[in-house]
Amino acid sequence: MLMQTRQDPALKRQDFPSDFIWGVATSAYQIEGAAETEGRGPSVWDAFCEQAGKIADGSSGRVACDHYHRYAQDLDLMASLGVNAYRFSISWPRVQPDGRGAWNEAGFAFYERLIQGLIARGIQVHITLNHWDMPQALQISGGWANRDTCALFVRYAQEVARRFGRHASSICTHNEPWVIAILGHELGVFAPGLKSRQTAMQVAHHLLLSHGLAVRAIRQMGVDTELGIVLNLSPIYPASDSQADVEKAKLDDGLNARWYLDPLFKGCYPTDVLAHLGGDAPAFSDEDMATIAQPMDYLGVNYYTRNFSSSGNPWDVHSTGNEVTDMGWEVYPQGLTELLCRLHRDYPVKRLRVTENGAAFKDELVNGAVEDVRREAYLREHILATRHAIEQGVPVDAYFAWSLLDNFEWASGYEKRFGIVHVDYATQQRTPKRSAQWYQQFLKA
Ligand code: FCB
Repeated sequence: MLMQTRQDPALKRQDFPSDFIWGVATSAYQIEGAAETEGRGPSVWDAFCEQAGKIADGSSGRVACDHYHRYAQDLDLMASLGVNAYRFSISWPRVQPDGRGAWNEAGFAFYERLIQGLIARGIQVHITLNHWDMPQALQISGGWANRDTCALFVRYAQEVARRFGRHASSICTHNEPWVIAILGHELGVFAPGLKSRQTAMQVAHHLLLSHGLAVRAIRQMGVDTELGIVLNLSPIYPASDSQADVEKAKLDDGLNARWYLDPLFKGCYPTDVLAHLGGDAPAFSDEDMATIAQPMDYLGVNYYTRNFSSSGNPWDVHSTGNEVTDMGWEVYPQGLTELLCRLHRDYPVKRLRVTENGAAFKDELVNGAVEDVRREAYLREHILATRHAIEQGVPVDAYFAWSLLDNFEWASGYEKRFGIVHVDYATQQRTPKRSAQWYQQFLKA
């Protein structure tokens, strides 16, 4: 069965453009550890993990994969996979502990070593500035709900661009602003754990605004690197063809997707969503909207599953009969093709990148091996789905598997494993899973 998979004539690297970007992705708080090492300040996630009951297994990213000390080994792992790109994030509180004061040179030195290690191995550098771990010192003065944070973010962005821009193939401003705004400020299940829709929508606006300001500022510096943003996007279907469900699906798509895409590409918020929000709509000006709509080099798409909207009973994820991952997410590769085609159709995107795609399963390490056939199939089918979009004329130029390593999966702690490389957290032993071997063979072929 698996041999058939490996020899699947339908999927070959050669069927993608020769300069296609093949990578793996991680983020700082999820893998680095070294939370109090060499001057790093606390992030909102350090503070959130200290609150009782917030993280499923009571853990935190304090040690995580200890990547801060083991990065050289992890770079060798990447090189052995044969990827030509690495998407990682810089921890703002590691390089500027209080988010507004002095730079922490030891923190920047770590990223300098990491970047030089990537260059030495011929692996492209794809930097994310904000993968959620903002300095806790800024949260105390309002965090993303405070408009002043935008200017501080721009200073941080410019400093990173000044130091690393010439080595970076791309710089992404924010990873998944919807998650920061809604999960962090409306539902309170992610840091900083607030529960106000009005605050959440103001946060979303400030994230978009700071994106536009940072893109403009980096461009003005003349730094030659691609600039973009990464959104979490899923096609949203109505749970039935009742008018109520159809309308709910349209609104949910508005809140999750169009609320971010329309300002970025059209310079305005969707009017149906504005009307729905009423008094919870953010304060913004025309000038803000023009700033947000800066031309970008690429849009990053993180895709894991599709969603259903219902105006009545909650949708049962098992009802389609499709496989469901350990996160409770339906495996639906066609959704990625549909999504990429829709983005190309509805928005003037120059280039699209699959910046995250992967799955959590209950992996077992048996006799030194992890036979994660389901993850292997997941990756293969989604790479194929990416190819289907390209065949329909969609300009997709990159695919990053989430994730290189098992890591701290936010509110799920270490219970959910997304890595193509297994991590034994007691020993920090790395073991490439079968999915990593499959990716390696695919890339070498
Ligand atoms: C995305 C995040 C990433 C990881 C995956 C599973 O929303 O960007 O850090 O947690 O989900």
